Amino acid sequence: MDHRELIQKLTDKSAIIGIVGLGYVGIPLALRYAEVGYKVLGLDIDDTKAEKIAAGKTYIKHIPDAAIQAAVDNGFEATTDFSRASEADALILCVPTPLDTHREPDLSFVLDTMDSLLPYLRKGQVISLESTTYPGTTDEELKPRIESTGLKVGENIFLVYSPEREDPGNPDFHTRTIPKVCGGDNENCQQVGVALYEQVIDQVVTVSSTRAAEMTKLLENIHRAVNIGLVNEMKIVADKMGIDIYEVINAAATKPFGFVPYYPGPGLGGHCIPIDPFYLTWKAREYGINTRFIELAGEVNSAMPQYVVSKVIHGLNRHKKAINGSRILMLGIAYKKNVDDMRESPSVELMKLMQEQGAEVSYSDPYVPAFPKMRRYHFDLQSVELNAETIKQFDCVVVGTNHDDFDYDMIADVAALIVDTRGVYKGKRANVINA
Ligand SMILES: NC(=O)c1ccc[n+]([C@@H]2O[C@H](COP(=O)([O-])OP(=O)(O)OC[C@H]3O[C@@H](n4cnc5c(N)ncnc54)[C@H](O)[C@@H]3O)[C@@H](O)[C@H]2O)c1
Repeated sequence: MDHRELIQKLTDKSAIIGIVGLGYVGIPLALRYAEVGYKVLGLDIDDTKAEKIAAGKTYIKHIPDAAIQAAVDNGFEATTDFSRASEADALILCVPTPLDTHREPDLSFVLDTMDSLLPYLRKGQVISLESTTYPGTTDEELKPRIESTGLKVGENIFLVYSPEREDPGNPDFHTRTIPKVCGGDNENCQQVGVALYEQVIDQVVTVSSTRAAEMTKLLENIHRAVNIGLVNEMKIVADKMGIDIYEVINAAATKPFGFVPYYPGPGLGGHCIPIDPFYLTWKAREYGINTRFIELAGEVNSAMPQYVVSKVIHGLNRHKKAINGSRILMLGIAYKKNVDDMRESPSVELMKLMQEQGAEVSYSDPYVPAFPKMRRYHFDLQSVELNAETIKQFDCVVVGTNHDDFDYDMIADVAALIVDTRGVYKGKRANVINA
């Protein structure tokens, strides 16, 4: 089967779409393909996910059961049986790309996934890698593996890289409306990639290679990491000078060109911004290049939790209290507002740092009823219900995540002391310290 036949199948929607890795990225994509009428086959190593999907149940807070059920009704099924990969005409890889303990790229999930798929690859399939990674991953790691089966990329099997741009919890953009970058291993692959995505995404943006597509994703996330580092540094300077950084950012944001507002916070969170830049740092070393902006932003951003703790100590000191023995409530432990995702959440790092100083730490987060098992942290805690009674029991409340659900006025009316890392109070309350 050449690329034209596959393009035809993708265009007339008779192609079966395989989504490998059914997490925050894979699920919305699977639902979107099912919505427009494709048969979708989900593959994951986690059998609880397949079971939940079969029962029409969600495991991602911002995706309702009804959306999963609707996709299942349209033929979406999930399995841990990788031999079924041969049924799929497209295999879209959405598996994790974390850092290892030495903060170097951990490609093991991508490579394990590829290795499990190899026995089931066949002519006439397209493989698309969506996981964020360094330039060269697709052609240096995936292509040789695929071709080790005797198939020839660009002739009878097709390979593209197309980064994911999901922004969980953002009501203004959806899978369909976020333009999607796609780079093929060669021209045939590129054409297949466009056919794969243009059925479900309004705008497919082509670039000349898989490497350019990989680098595009890294530029986007490095741009954010560096600018957040800059604004975090500005926040500290402004604070010392008695200037409200939020007033300054909002004023600067009225400039209609050449300025993009970024907001300070307690440190970087989520799966992407604290991690992805270091994929480029690692790869750049192979070319003898130091990525100094990335390192500097990493340094500034990773110092933020310590800065916040110093503000907590300062605030308690004003009340003639030591952090050691103080009862502190962490408000919000998800890494950003209105989601349940806690990966790399700076709130959790803050809890650890304050506990190390002897604080008695609790948390409240409507999205996280019980503190989950995490790789690096363990707190045997349940979310504290917020009311005047419970809040009064704490010496300090630290705003870590600015969920819309919190009643900020009620909290400030009764809290002894608030350390606000998200600018929700904008300096309007005497018991609030900005951090
Ligand atoms: N979450 C986001 O907002 C976001 C945005 C853009 C890009 N990304 C990137 O997308 C990729 C996936 O991220 P995510 O947030 O969806 O991760 P996730 O942890 O939510 O989901 C990954 C899924 O892959 C499965 N998995 C792990 N190993 C597997 C294997 N060998 N075979 C099959 N399935 C396997 C896991 O069980 C899990 O269900 C990462 O590279 C990430 O950097 C994420």
